[in-house]
Amino acid sequence: MARVVRFERTDPIRIDPTELPVGADGKPKPIFICACGISARFPFCDGSHKACRLETQGHVYAYRPGSTEVVEQRPDAGHA
Ligand code: FES
Repeated sequence: MARVVRFERTDPIRIDPTELPVGADGKPKPIFICACGISARFPFCDGSHKACRLETQGHVYAYRPGSTEVVEQRPDAGHA
């Protein structure tokens, strides 16, 4: 499976290290960067990737921006 993701930004997303989560011990907590492309909080993972588990191998999916609603599904012509 694969996803078509629409990006409209033309500039990078700045992540201020002083705003990253810190644990009670003062040490930085892990952060998760979205790799599926459908997070509503991109570039951070918000758990939306769970929707991708329903995808079928050999198909391409497009999701409604900011949601986990599939708006298009078709066979992946580039899939080996
Ligand atoms: S990896 Fe994309 S929402 Fe988690």
